[in-house]
Amino acid sequence: TKKILLFCDPGIDDSIAIMYSILDPDIELVGIVTSYGNITRDKATANAAYLVHLAGRSDIPIIPGATKPVQDEDVTFYPEIHGEDGMGPIQIPRNFRYQIYPFDTIRFIIEKYKNELIIVDTGRSTNLATAFILYPDHMKMVQSFYVMGGAFFVPGNITALAEANFYGDPAASNFILQYAHNLTITPLNVTQHAVLTQQFVNAISQNKNNIYASLVDPIYKYYYEFYKKSNPGINGAPIHDLLTILVVKNPTIVDYINYDAKVIEGTDAKGMSYIDYRPTSKKGKTKIAIKLHYNDFIKELSNVLL
Ligand code: BDR
Ligand code: CA
Repeated sequence: TKKILLFCDPGIDDSIAIMYSILDPDIELVGIVTSYGNITRDKATANAAYLVHLAGRSDIPIIPGATKPVQDEDVTFYPEIHGEDGMGPIQIPRNFRYQIYPFDTIRFIIEKYKNELIIVDTGRSTNLATAFILYPDHMKMVQSFYVMGGAFFVPGNITALAEANFYGDPAASNFILQYAHNLTITPLNVTQHAVLTQQFVNAISQNKNNIYASLVDPIYKYYYEFYKKSNPGINGAPIHDLLTILVVKNPTIVDYINYDAKVIEGTDAKGMSYIDYRPTSKKGKTKIAIKLHYNDFIKELSNVLL
């Protein structure tokens, strides 16, 4: 099994990524580190805790991290995409209580799983960069890193040039692009094709064995409404963060190029990700997903969710 420590900001696509990770017998979710991003850090934390609770998996430690990026004072949240509390119309019961773990727990998780541990980051880069700053020797023990972020050769989803995760804290993104070894990124140009249709979600809802069957449809519908408005004609909504998890499980569902990616900080181009793609430029260390094999993506999901 793939032992995954997930850094995220649930958030609808993060939530679906969490559900999938819990349901897939080939994946062992060993912890969830939460941050600001789609919504506040505290809402993201409550959502992560609620999702593990629903599955009877409150043994998975929930580790709250950053409430804001390194440089910017102001943080923008996205309730129009993810809902006021981050899971569309879902409201966590008021009396829901959960345990949280200190940030330092990351160190113990790395010590426990050592070079079997895979870190996946589907949120702003602040927490992962902080882990590199706090625990440099531990981070060297991690097997590999997978990051959802950036947009190459396509418009961004926050500005014309920038994707949300790399826009949120570009200094932190550059930090992880520099320090993470065995790094694969699944950028927007690929994740935007990882579209789930309403029909597929209906099929999930009918699967009596899926503990999240009744939750997926309302959160998906909320998210899809936003995508319909912003992309008329789209037949479903891209579940960016879910694809990143699937790529850990089956790396062949996307094609790659190998370059060193960088992010622009603090100008009109803030958050823009780029590589030197000229024919004469030298190849780099990061695997950047460049093309999705959609049928393989759906096949993987069907095996676990339907
Ligand atoms: C990424 O930004 C977030 O809003 C989503 O959850 C995803 O991680 C897509 O750009
Ligand atoms: Ca996310």
